Amino acid sequence: MTMTKKIVTLAGDGIGPEIMAAGLEVLEAVADKIGFDYDIDAKPFGGAGIDACGHPLPKDTLDAAKAADAILLAAIGGPKYDNATVRPEQGLLAIRKELNLFANIRPVRIFDALKHLSPLKPERIEGVDFVVVRELTGGIYFGEHKLEDEAARDINDYSAQEIRRIIRKAFELAQVRGKKVTSIDKQNVLATSKLWRKVAEEVALEFPDVTLEHQLVDSAAMIMITNPSRFDVVVTENLFGDILSDESSVLPGTLGVMPSASHSENGPSLYEPIHGSAPDIAGKGIANPVSMILSVAMMLRESFGELAGAEMIEEAVDKTFNQGILTRDLGGQASTAEMTAAIIANL
Ligand code: NAD
Ligand code: IPM
Ligand code: MN
Repeated sequence: MTMTKKIVTLAGDGIGPEIMAAGLEVLEAVADKIGFDYDIDAKPFGGAGIDACGHPLPKDTLDAAKAADAILLAAIGGPKYDNATVRPEQGLLAIRKELNLFANIRPVRIFDALKHLSPLKPERIEGVDFVVVRELTGGIYFGEHKLEDEAARDINDYSAQEIRRIIRKAFELAQVRGKKVTSIDKQNVLATSKLWRKVAEEVALEFPDVTLEHQLVDSAAMIMITNPSRFDVVVTENLFGDILSDESSVLPGTLGVMPSASHSENGPSLYEPIHGSAPDIAGKGIANPVSMILSVAMMLRESFGELAGAEMIEEAVDKTFNQGILTRDLGGQASTAEMTAAIIANL
C-alpha cells in the first residue's frame, strides 16, 4: 500500500509563486513516472501571509507545516514591506525556529555546461563540489535585537549543544562525501567562535575517518573564490553561512541554481532556494526555476528516499543546460516557463 505524502507549499512573494509553479510542474511529471503519491496544500506565508491575514506565518500555515511530510518554500520579501513593522522575513525565521530546522544544507555544484559562464577562470572551478552546512536556528539571528535612536545591539548566542549538533551533521555528511570538514569561525575575536572551535575539536574525535580543518571566516571568503575545490563540507554559524552561501553562488554563475534543505532532529524538513524573492525581476516570467526544481529533487531524495526521481530531475537539468537552454541570469533567453518545459521534456 502506498501512502500519500503531504507536502505543504509556501510560495511567498516576488518570483516565489513563479518558481513554485515550475517546481510543482516538474514534481507532477516525475511523480507520474516513478509512482510517487502526494497531496499539495498551498498556504499563505511571508508578505502573502501579511496581506491575507496580517501575519507572515499564520497559525494555520504553521499547523499545516508541522503536520506535513515535507515543506517546499519558494521565497519571501519585497520592497513593499521595507518599512513595515511586521516583515515577511520574520515569518521565515519563525518557521525555522518553530520546526527546529537547525541544519541547513546548501550544495555547491558546477554544471559542466555552465563552466564557461562562471566569472572564475576554468582552472579555479575545476573539481568544485562542496556543501555549506549552515546553522539555522541560533546565533545573532535569534539573540536579542535592540534598536534605539543613537545605539543598537544584536546579541550572538550559542550553546555548546547547538554547536555540537550542527558540527555532527557536517561530519556525518563528510563521511559519505570527501571525508573533510572545514569549520569556519572568527575565533581570533569572538567568544562564540572560541566555543565553536572547541566543540568542533571534540566532535572530530567521534569521527576518526574525517579530517577537520579550521578557517577564519575572512580568509575563508577569499579561499571560496581563489581555491574553492579545497572544500568538501563547510560548516559555520548562521550569519557566516548566509553570507558565504550567497558568495558560493558565484561559482556556478548564478543564485538561480542554488537549492537547499533544512532539517530538524525528527520533524518534517523544508526545501527552498537559497536566494530571495528577486523583486527586480518579479512578475516578468524570467526567473530561473532551477533552484526550486533542484530543491524538489532534494526533497524527493532526503525526505522520501525517492533516489530515482531525484536523479531524474538532476539529469534533466544537466541535459537542458547542455542543450544551451538558459534563462537570462545565465545570459540566455529562455523564460521560466520555457526552461521548465524543457526540463520536463528531458526527464
Ligand atoms: P535576492 O536573492 O532576491 O536577489 C539577488 C539577485 O539575484 C537579484 O538581482 C535577483 O534578480 C537575482 N536572482 C535571485 N534569484 C534568482 C532566480 N531564481 N533567477 C534569476 N535571478 C535571480 O536578494 P535581494 O534582492 O537582496 O532580496 C530581495 C528580498 O528577498 C528581500 O526582501 C530579502 O529579505 C528576501 N530574501 C528572502 C529569502 C528567502 O525567502 N529564503 C532569501 C534571501 C532574501
Ligand atoms: C536566506 C535569507 C534569509 C536569511 C533572510 C531572508 C532572513 O537570506 O535564507 O539565506 O538571512 O537566512
Ligand atoms: Mn541569504
